[in-house]
Amino acid sequence: MMSVWHGLLLICSVFPLSLQGQTVRSEYMLEKGWRFFKGEVEGAASVRFDDDGWTPVTVPHDWAIYGPFDRSHDLQEVAVTQNGEKVATVKTGRTGGLPYAGVGWYRRIFDVPGFRTGQKRVVLKFDGAMSEARIYVNGREACFWPYGYNAFHCDVTDLLTADGQRNTLAVRLENKTQSSRWYPGAGLYRNVHLIVTEKIHVPVWGTYVTTPFVSDSVASVRLETTVAGASGQQVRMVTDILDEEGAVVAHRENEQKINYDKPFVQHLDVRNPSLWSPEGPKLYTAVSQIYVGDKLVDRISTRFGIREIRVVADRGFLLNGKLRKFQGVCNHHDLGPLGTAINVSALRHQLTLLKDMGCDAIRTAHNMPAPELVELCDEMGFMMMIEPFDEWDIAKCANGYHRFFDEWAERDMINMIRHFRNNPSVVMWSIGNEVPTQCRPDGYRVASFLQEICHREDPTRPVTCGMDQVSCVLENGFAALLDVPGLNYRAHRYEEAYAKLPQNLLLGSETSSTVSSRGIYKFPVQKRADALYPDHQSSSYDMEHCSWSNLPDDDFALAEDHHWTMGQFVWTGFDYLGEPSPYDTDAWPNHSSMFGIIDLASIPKDRYYLYRSLWNKGASTLHILPHWTWPDRTGEVTPVFVYTSYPRAELFVNGKSQGVQTKSKASLQHRYRLMWMDVRYEPGELKVIAYDDQGKVAEEKVVRTAGKPYKLVLEPAQDHITADGRSLAYIRVKAVDREGNLCPLDTSLVTFSVKGAGTYKAAANGDPTSLEMFHMPKMRLFGGQLTAIVQSSETEGVIRLIAKAKGLKTGEAIVSTDTAEPRRTAGTSESAASL
Ligand code: GAL
Repeated sequence: MMSVWHGLLLICSVFPLSLQGQTVRSEYMLEKGWRFFKGEVEGAASVRFDDDGWTPVTVPHDWAIYGPFDRSHDLQEVAVTQNGEKVATVKTGRTGGLPYAGVGWYRRIFDVPGFRTGQKRVVLKFDGAMSEARIYVNGREACFWPYGYNAFHCDVTDLLTADGQRNTLAVRLENKTQSSRWYPGAGLYRNVHLIVTEKIHVPVWGTYVTTPFVSDSVASVRLETTVAGASGQQVRMVTDILDEEGAVVAHRENEQKINYDKPFVQHLDVRNPSLWSPEGPKLYTAVSQIYVGDKLVDRISTRFGIREIRVVADRGFLLNGKLRKFQGVCNHHDLGPLGTAINVSALRHQLTLLKDMGCDAIRTAHNMPAPELVELCDEMGFMMMIEPFDEWDIAKCANGYHRFFDEWAERDMINMIRHFRNNPSVVMWSIGNEVPTQCRPDGYRVASFLQEICHREDPTRPVTCGMDQVSCVLENGFAALLDVPGLNYRAHRYEEAYAKLPQNLLLGSETSSTVSSRGIYKFPVQKRADALYPDHQSSSYDMEHCSWSNLPDDDFALAEDHHWTMGQFVWTGFDYLGEPSPYDTDAWPNHSSMFGIIDLASIPKDRYYLYRSLWNKGASTLHILPHWTWPDRTGEVTPVFVYTSYPRAELFVNGKSQGVQTKSKASLQHRYRLMWMDVRYEPGELKVIAYDDQGKVAEEKVVRTAGKPYKLVLEPAQDHITADGRSLAYIRVKAVDREGNLCPLDTSLVTFSVKGAGTYKAAANGDPTSLEMFHMPKMRLFGGQLTAIVQSSETEGVIRLIAKAKGLKTGEAIVSTDTAEPRRTAGTSESAASL
């Protein structure tokens, strides 16, 4: 079924639903034709304002990602009490060193097709606008929404021109300095929708599907539909449930009088349902036609899944009756070199990497996600824990959300829950992250207030909170009142928390915070907290963490050893812009985090294979580290680690055995990693032979010392993308020697050009200290690699990316594009979620 159409000019049409010759609902995305100005402007909301000199932009748009990076951007002098700091120090790069602060204006003209005064309702819906958004239509303020991460909507019917033509939309956004602990992005960074309905209609987020009974043979589906503008009228609702092939699997027709805002309730049975799970993300769609008399007034589609979630004391989390522990990651919302401007193919690329690692869950830290991410999680099979806040009523940042909490928290919660309560991927709400309120004696009241909003708006999902102040929350009743107590780190306090808390369960709401830079190895190899080096990097031997955190091995053991642990959400799946711990205290240059399992260029670090070796049960993993090109280390002790799903392996250096290692309980590291600590480096070949449980040779892997860098090799992750002007292909660029070995020390400057049916979008190399701008068609290799991203145009054809570097043979990649509609396109509008 088609989900989105995109027109060319001002607006892009989605689903003009014309039945009986009458269009009852149309949705449009306002993508093109915007103009942008960075700075405050008098009179910019006015119809007569001349914006000719402003920059033409396409939305989603992040005004700050084009930089430049600078130490002076949003310098924050602060003591991060969550990290145990007592004295305020200058933090550089906390928000990525990017110019996100200040005022920005967007303007565009829009027409409302088919508008007739007094007969239609018109709503503008913003999936997120960063931040303190003031929306003006034809010079009059339509709405204000302060929280930059949340979706909101406003009815603009009464502000439109009489014929619906040439309306002026102006949006003023303002980001204060010191408003975030990471890069928040800036601008209209998510989609803007225009929704046109009849006067009697289903409002935004007006349907709620639950599955009160689920079995293999039958599922009961309960559909609540709010019908606005019909109070006191007799309404007929005709609902079909369609499976993924579009076949009708259930049908129901009911009639009832609408009482004010009480929703219309229907129950339908689905026989032999295909249940939703990460391994089999089956989806259904409820399509309801709403009649008053014989007149069709609305037609609304809601996509959902049939699945049962339960949290059981001393057991944990059950999905469809099966116990499972979360193999999850936390992610911030930025897309690395793309900034925060939402892009479906970028999200899909990220999720594809996580899927292969065996990850089955995402925590949206610490804010509401873009709808496109949630829809992709529905489709690709990831469970989600959605979290709204990093602050409640006590500040972490001088200008953070605490300024709005008292007035806005309930409204923000309601929007979040109604927005995502039909998505089967969402299995839990979190009400906050490490909020200082947790230690206030009456902090439990705030937790209770927020949890009750969740229970009221969506009684089907459990509620948790990421807590780090374990002593406080165990004493003051805060942890005890949550459906699911979630601890951030503090692995050593799990048993105590389990013993003291009434839930008889514990979730690792945030774990690990191990730091590493891809391809960088430090010697001697030792476990260290807050290790600092002159090059501002961290070691990829995966033995370094922050003072408050730990290594992955601790969390693996907690999940395996205790029946009452519910699994974990690792900090983080991907590196993100900002928070460059442990180099956050005046250690510029430093624009991004080092916590990621995957770097900012979407290139897996070694740690990826450690998680994969345990989490991906459907494939084997055999990965060697470090690289084996060390011109200055001949004869030096250079430990070798192997991350593998096999229990034992033998290592050879130039054919000489270094012995067999077997996973053991000698230490947590020995339990999950094979380690040869005494290997002396000599150039040549490092080979590992892995043995299975029966002791038979199962697999082998070789890493060779690289010779002189010879050429650039380009490897597209997608060789085919949609010609829609939005889709992206991620192309790995590597310097290799004559034999094709990666040259891990090469830092050549690569320059790019693009020919054919697309444009150059951005590049990233994963180096947290790099200050090269992502959108410029040149970048240095880091660890011999980087990722370049190209974007399709709206014309079918072939995109050629050409990469050149001094002294290296030129590399080239080809990506083809066509306009074929993908089977299911996630996102871009509510309607995509509902079909
Ligand atoms: C946690 C916090 C995260 C991030 C992380 C870094 O305490 O919840 O947002 O700051 O530390 O280790």
